[in-house]
Amino acid sequence: MPMSYLAVFLILLLPISCSSSAPTLVEKKFKECLITQLGGNSQSVEKIIFTKSSSQYPQVLEAREQNTRWVNSSWKPILILAPFHESEIQAAIRCSKELGLQLRVRSGGHDYEGQSYLSEVPFVMVDLINMRSIQVNLCDETAWVQAGASVGELYYQISKASKVHGFPAGTCPSVGVGGQISGGGQGVMLRKHGLAADHVVDAYIIDANGKIHDRKSMGEDVFWAIRGGSSTSFGVILAWKIRLVRVPPIVTGFNLRKTVEEGANNLIHRWQYIAHELHEDLVIRVIVQNSGDKSKTLRVLFNSQFLGGVDRLIPLMNKSFPELGLQAKDCTEMNWIQSVMFIAGYNIDDPLELLLNRTTTSKNSFKAKSDYVKEPIPKDGLEGAWKMLLEEEAATVMIFEPYGGIMNEISESETPFPHRKGNLYNIQYLVNWKGNNNEEKHLLWAKMIYRYMTPYVSKFPRAAYFNYKDLDLGKNLHDNTSYSTASVWGEKYFKGNFRRLAQIKTKFDPQNFFRNEQSIPLLDAHPY
Ligand SMILES: Cc1cc2nc3c(=O)[nH]c(=O)nc-3n(C[C@H](O)[C@H](O)[C@H](O)COP(=O)(O)OP(=O)(O)OC[C@H]3O[C@@H](n4cnc5c(N)ncnc54)[C@H](O)[C@@H]3O)c2cc1C
Ligand SMILES: *[C@@H]1O[C@H](CO)[C@@H](O)[C@H](O)[C@H]1NC(C)=O
Ligand SMILES: *[C@@H]1O[C@H](CO)[C@@H](O)[C@H](O)[C@H]1NC(C)=O
Ligand SMILES: *[C@@H]1O[C@H](CO)[C@@H](O)[C@H](O)[C@H]1NC(C)=O
Ligand SMILES: *[C@@H]1O[C@H](CO)[C@@H](O)[C@H](O)[C@H]1NC(C)=O
Repeated sequence: MPMSYLAVFLILLLPISCSSSAPTLVEKKFKECLITQLGGNSQSVEKIIFTKSSSQYPQVLEAREQNTRWVNSSWKPILILAPFHESEIQAAIRCSKELGLQLRVRSGGHDYEGQSYLSEVPFVMVDLINMRSIQVNLCDETAWVQAGASVGELYYQISKASKVHGFPAGTCPSVGVGGQISGGGQGVMLRKHGLAADHVVDAYIIDANGKIHDRKSMGEDVFWAIRGGSSTSFGVILAWKIRLVRVPPIVTGFNLRKTVEEGANNLIHRWQYIAHELHEDLVIRVIVQNSGDKSKTLRVLFNSQFLGGVDRLIPLMNKSFPELGLQAKDCTEMNWIQSVMFIAGYNIDDPLELLLNRTTTSKNSFKAKSDYVKEPIPKDGLEGAWKMLLEEEAATVMIFEPYGGIMNEISESETPFPHRKGNLYNIQYLVNWKGNNNEEKHLLWAKMIYRYMTPYVSKFPRAAYFNYKDLDLGKNLHDNTSYSTASVWGEKYFKGNFRRLAQIKTKFDPQNFFRNEQSIPLLDAHPY
């Protein structure tokens, strides 16, 4: 049997052959290829490579698997590469192609479906944990941030450089900028400043041939696509250049808890009419959860950031949302970086270095789904949802993120992220559990609440947020899934932008090298 056939044959057998700790042929070949690509330096390759036979492999793999659902899965990478230099990623792309392997990139490891570290087919994982430098430039109010950095690291470095600059990415510090900006990135400054992706002004990406591009050489189409349209379908993002935003020296936060007896349901019902029309400096999120214990009580939290002081906030709330009864004593003034801590659930006097912790959020197994709401949901509709939250034995949460503000002024096609004007708010449904305890039941609960909500949420398509990835919406079943098959899930995330994404994909990655279960398809692949 010729060597190349043998390699293919072994790849097909991988789930079996990899269970032994001896290096497999494909491991060996990949290593050899890397060494050749990197000019014969085998020592530097040893430092960045973790094969299944390496004792560090499980630790390196699990360190940033945020969702623990798949820790016992056999769909693990053949090997992990943790590069320090872009040339090592270029080499990994070329060698993966040569050996017929897939390549997955991991920045923060928060993918809801584990797509950065999990695949049914043989693959190499490139972990960007060593590529996370951040350079803030206050002269032009920008920063270059390498893809492996977390949003917490980014916020921290900005705050070290300036007390009056910030960045509008997500609320959880340990999420990677590589994944988050690729899918949009929404946080508490959404209504004032839009998405993280709206503030990208340049980027470095490596294409399927291993070539590095900046904005100019990738062209405006690809630059459009990677800002919210799944950059992982187009290449490996090395770094983003972002535009910082100005924040006031004093910011206010409040956390108002309400019980059902205190009229939480009426307040949420009312909130639907108000939250998207409030002053854009003010974001009031609503978090509704079951307590996850035997008491079976509903916890409702109005969680807010206001870009200004209490003296301006109170009259504003008194005018717009008096029903909530917010008083000055409920509010805390702080600076912007403390508000990042506050929203992330820390004490505002805790050391800011907590934002640098890459494993801050406690790890659980979880499943999430998302929706957009365009018309207020009637009271009985909301009550039905609370009932379902309480019926599930595991911890369940619904997070309501108000839209409006600047989101109404950005056109649907400005970036691939289409959920702009006309959305009152975004809902995220989450169910959390430990280990593999009753997984089937929890997954079923997620499907049931999603079905229950059908009459109340967006339709044609029923829109979803790509960063809250959900493979129940549909997936690519083979290498060349057709555009029309993929449209089933693609239009939910991207609406009318999906076709343009596929056009750009077809030009930039015509071999469909960068692919996964929900990667952008080629436009004219197979007719099925
Ligand atoms: C606890 C938690 C809180 C969250 N909070 C928010 C929030 O407040 N706002 C919000 O908008 N989202 C939030 N998310 C969703 C989050 O934005 C997405 O899951 C995001 O894709 C994670 O990025 P990552 O780099 O951490 O994940 P990864 O798992 O590393 O990557 C996610 C996807 O992007 C790809 N990818 C990663 N890096 C690169 C790269 N350099 N080049 C090309 N492709 C790459 C991966 O292959 C994978 O497909 C949250 C998620 C979790 C788990
Ligand atoms: C709220 O508004 C009412 C009437 O508009 C006013 O009487 C009251 O003093 C205001 N309260 C605060 C705290 O501003
Ligand atoms: C990061 O957070 C985790 C979970 O809270 C904790 O166990 C760990 O000690 C923290 N690491 C550092 C360096 O603070
Ligand atoms: C993985 O296996 C361990 C040991 O059998 C078990 O305790 C744990 O619950 C499993 N986790 C998952 C997510 O399957
Ligand atoms: C998928 O389509 C591309 C472009 O037509 C082609 O190069 C590639 O070989 C196809 N792959 C498979 C597995 O059919």
